Amino acid sequence: MKVLIEKDYKTISEVAARMIKDEIERKPNLTLGLATGSTPMGTYQELIRLYKEEGLDFSKVTTFNLDEYVGLDRDDPNSYSYHMRDVLFNHINVNLENTFIPNGKSKNLEDACASYDKIIRDKGGIDLQILGIGENGHIAFNEPSDKLNIYTSIVKLDDTTINANSRFFNSTEEVPKTAITMGMSSIMEARKIILMAHGKKKAPIVKRLLEAKHISTYIPASLLLLHPNVTFILTEEAYEA
Ligand code: F6R
Repeated sequence: MKVLIEKDYKTISEVAARMIKDEIERKPNLTLGLATGSTPMGTYQELIRLYKEEGLDFSKVTTFNLDEYVGLDRDDPNSYSYHMRDVLFNHINVNLENTFIPNGKSKNLEDACASYDKIIRDKGGIDLQILGIGENGHIAFNEPSDKLNIYTSIVKLDDTTINANSRFFNSTEEVPKTAITMGMSSIMEARKIILMAHGKKKAPIVKRLLEAKHISTYIPASLLLLHPNVTFILTEEAYEA
């Protein structure tokens, strides 16, 4: 495990974007795992800049997003599908047909979950996975529990997650209560993982994680401590020495 502590949000965004750039230049047909939430937004802005100003080429890149709310249409501005096009895909030269996000509006959600895992497998797995972390230790929407899903699954969101994400909606009531999330295996099988965290609110969970002597399903991110190639990119604020 590598831990990089940077002075501010802008710097962690630039460092993560630079690592993504290096991977795409090493492997132009990279399979990139992406997250939503506020944490990677600066990274996406920096990737757009690298595309526009430095010619970073996404034309052969495939992307898989971690999760999607159940019940939201892909054109609903609160859906992660819409959001990803808005904040990244529409501004770079990625082929939209190579951008995958679970289908939360599928008539058969179980099938949608199984086919998501199959597409990831068929593409050879994820080369580089970008993650944020919930204040409760969740990664993707794998919430603290006595058991964690191995495969892409339908999950009930924690009240803490619903409250945290209500900032993107008009009210807490509007936040969907269920989501489809990539399970732990597709994440853990990624060849390289970057977990980013910024802001004081993340400091307690980051501290628990970095000081952990055990893995626990009640801190889903603790499973990352078993991964052979994981880098934590943290702001000074998110890292309480
Ligand atoms: C988003 C996701 C979540 C977020 C986490 C942190 O696709 O999977 O696990 O990464 O909730 O969210 P922010 O970045 O908004 O603090």
